[in-house]
Amino acid sequence: MRICVIGAGYVGLVSAACFAEMGNQVVCVERDTLRAARLARGEVPLYEPGLETLVRTHLANGQLRFSLRLEDGIAQADIVFIAVGTPSGEDGSADLSHVLDVAHELGARLRHACVVVTKSTVPVGTGERVAQSINAGLARRGLGIRIAVASNPEFLKEGSAIDDFMRPDRVILGCDDPDSLALLRRLYAPFQRNHERLLCMGVRAAEFSKYAANAFLASRISLMNELAALCARLDVDIEDVRRGIGSDRRIGRHFIYAGCGYGGSCFPKDVRALIRSAEQQGLDAPILRAVEARNVEQKRWLFEALQAHFDGYWQGRRVAIWGLAFKPGTDDLREAPSLVLLDALLAAGAQVQACDPVATAEVARRYPEAVASGRLCLSESPYTCVEGADALVLVTEWKQFRQPDFLRVRSLMRMPVLFDGRNIYDARELSALGFLYRGVGRPMTGHCKASAA
Ligand SMILES: NC(=O)c1ccc[n+]([C@@H]2O[C@H](COP(=O)([O-])OP(=O)(O)OC[C@H]3O[C@@H](n4cnc5c(N)ncnc54)[C@H](O)[C@@H]3O)[C@@H](O)[C@H]2O)c1
Repeated sequence: MRICVIGAGYVGLVSAACFAEMGNQVVCVERDTLRAARLARGEVPLYEPGLETLVRTHLANGQLRFSLRLEDGIAQADIVFIAVGTPSGEDGSADLSHVLDVAHELGARLRHACVVVTKSTVPVGTGERVAQSINAGLARRGLGIRIAVASNPEFLKEGSAIDDFMRPDRVILGCDDPDSLALLRRLYAPFQRNHERLLCMGVRAAEFSKYAANAFLASRISLMNELAALCARLDVDIEDVRRGIGSDRRIGRHFIYAGCGYGGSCFPKDVRALIRSAEQQGLDAPILRAVEARNVEQKRWLFEALQAHFDGYWQGRRVAIWGLAFKPGTDDLREAPSLVLLDALLAAGAQVQACDPVATAEVARRYPEAVASGRLCLSESPYTCVEGADALVLVTEWKQFRQPDFLRVRSLMRMPVLFDGRNIYDARELSALGFLYRGVGRPMTGHCKASAA
């Protein structure tokens, strides 16, 4: 099939590469000149495991092309995917300007009938607005065709996006037109060889399902964080509680980790957009508001814990941070808890030494003054990062931070103090090694002495 994907971000680029991998002819349209030029040379401008290999392979065999021009992408397309961003607007609602710009352009440039699909996360009713805009454009140009717009929300996770796309838990197709649905079924057939994973429904239900999934997952995290706060007061370890409840099949083991808050390009903005949708319908959404409020508070937890540890005295304090990306496996920093911590530490006057395997370039771009003045030092080595530090904070649980040489870490730090924002370490082991250890919703263990070094 001939596919056009509009937008070469985390979702568009992965979709384009995976559709090409299944033998389709794909043109990915990207309006950012620099990004499009880099992609055409086989340079992938974002970090996603396996993506660069896939892009290079299919650029070389001609199954995948990149273009700045929408006309190029849509000229022959059977299916056009809209995969542009839908960030939070000022009032929390989804900013649909990129999606509606694309719809307008499609109405002005399409010359033949094809299926248009929104893959971006969009509020209920957006598919209808996109269809209206395209069809009004086509009518103005006197073309006697009408376009059907389907919804195919994306559920991939950054860090395992290729695998998620190739072997999805489910593919939701919201489509009210039988011919378009038949085409989309054919497109997705190779992605579900061993059992049917297609869930077909109306466009509006598909649009809502994406928000419902993210709201549900975010709620689990915020609930766990609320329970963690209580655990800390009651001298109970939330990690014992997690194991206790995760073994209940009605609850399950996923998304019940207490931590320093969720970030990323989806949960925060999608929860806010759903709250706004409810308000627009004259409804209150107290549970969702609490999920959001708890998360905002949770992202402050690491700083508050450090502030208490240092008695609010920051003069000359050095804090080391392990992990900056909003989760392991990506360079995405959107709404990352690390940014809240960095802002607070720099405002308090701390000296910060931070390390991340792939996100330091983006952090340097966001904090040019702190980097230039030496108040923020970035490195890729976890050991260089902790030199002379008065506290180490684990924010993103990359694999390379899971089992470090803690004796070496201790010898490099000024004070062996560890704040574990993801509860990945063994509290007893660390206190036996001489660390003061503090996790989220866990009793404080150990006491620290200044390092001999
Ligand atoms: N990132 C994720 O993990 C994820 C997962 C599921 C769903 N989503 C949803 O998918 C959508 C895209 O997310 P993303 O993270 O890929 O966004 P992104 O910001 O990484 O990428 C969007 C890309 O679209 C390009 N673009 C914008 N307008 C354009 C236009 N008119 N023509 C061509 N290109 C244009 C931008 O330059 C950018 O490169 C969002 O709605 C998001 O909520 C994201």
